[in-house]
Amino acid sequence: MTASKRPRPKPSAAPSSADEPPIPMGPGAKAHPPVGLGLWALGRWTRTDEERTRQVLEAGVAEGIRWYDTAEVYGNGRSERLLGERLERDPVLAHEGFITTKVSWEHLRPNQIGAALTQSLERLGRSRVDLYLIHAPDPKTPLRDSLGILEELWKSGRVGAIGVSNFALDELTQAVDLLSEAKIAVNQVRFNLFDRSDAEPIQAFCRDHGILIEAYTPLARGLLNGRYLDGRKAPPEVRRFAQRFFDGDRWPDYVARARRLKDLAERAGVPMASLALHWLRAQGAAPVFGASRPEQVAENMAAWRSRPADSVLAEADAIARGERA
Ligand SMILES: NC(=O)c1ccc[n+]([C@@H]2O[C@H](COP(=O)([O-])OP(=O)(O)OC[C@H]3O[C@@H](n4cnc5c(N)ncnc54)[C@H](OP(=O)(O)O)[C@@H]3O)[C@@H](O)[C@H]2O)c1
Repeated sequence: MTASKRPRPKPSAAPSSADEPPIPMGPGAKAHPPVGLGLWALGRWTRTDEERTRQVLEAGVAEGIRWYDTAEVYGNGRSERLLGERLERDPVLAHEGFITTKVSWEHLRPNQIGAALTQSLERLGRSRVDLYLIHAPDPKTPLRDSLGILEELWKSGRVGAIGVSNFALDELTQAVDLLSEAKIAVNQVRFNLFDRSDAEPIQAFCRDHGILIEAYTPLARGLLNGRYLDGRKAPPEVRRFAQRFFDGDRWPDYVARARRLKDLAERAGVPMASLALHWLRAQGAAPVFGASRPEQVAENMAAWRSRPADSVLAEADAIARGERA
């Protein structure tokens, strides 16, 4: 189906993202919604998958999600384009949405970043993006050069706030030191109940410097929704991306812990994913989850709207760390 023949979606009616207040991002920047939908889709960008991603995005809008995370590398720009199409048809979302995109680690030289942003903005159909992240550091490009340009883009108003992704503590410290007027608003890293190895070393620094941690892979690719507890194996693409859980001797242990989390959620009367999402919020992080089907978006937002008691989150924390009852 071509874009012109596709039925026009209704403008988004839901009042706000997530029944939780947005997170302030500093003067001049839009406040950051506490939960978001990622439009990566694990590289599956056949025509059918593209249509499915469109439906996922539609479900996100229907659920009142305001923060959408994309990147120039996702589907080689197709993710940005698809989001741009949706924004074009929905003035409410275009106005209220919080749109994050990322410059690729391959485009961090000073003469590349401005052009990369221009192309991202064209695909998104916007004159400005709310948050622009360096997708990952490139050891071959001095950070000083990239950040200087990012700061100029921020001053020009084409970027509401700037941030980084996959930065370790030393890289993050360097980035903060290199900026003069702008600040690093965000570091987006992999962070979930089972995998804290990227986030824990930066948590204190981020707190001290007012940097929000955006948590990607918050549901451990569905393991924290109770998926894979029936012994079914994860597909190879998922195993490749999430080797830390799915490969080697650790997998049976993660499954055992996930079963205990599921039991805990049942006892507490909340969906299992509530533990994963609200544990991250309790850490001060903002989760950005993914979905391959619209029903998953609805389930995850139902989980988001059901906040477990602090004592339940503390128990989830202990179970996920492998502590015995
Ligand atoms: N900055 C970076 O380098 C980076 C890296 C990775 C991700 N990200 C961002 O973070 C977003 C989320 O990452 P992620 O996709 O790894 O996170 P995730 O939320 O942990 O995993 C999403 C996957 O979990 C499964 N799932 C989701 N909801 C489910 C439900 N209700 N029931 C059962 N299974 C469910 C689906 O797997 P199936 O697809 O198998 O159905 C879905 O694709 C990405 O879209 C992207 O925007 C950023």
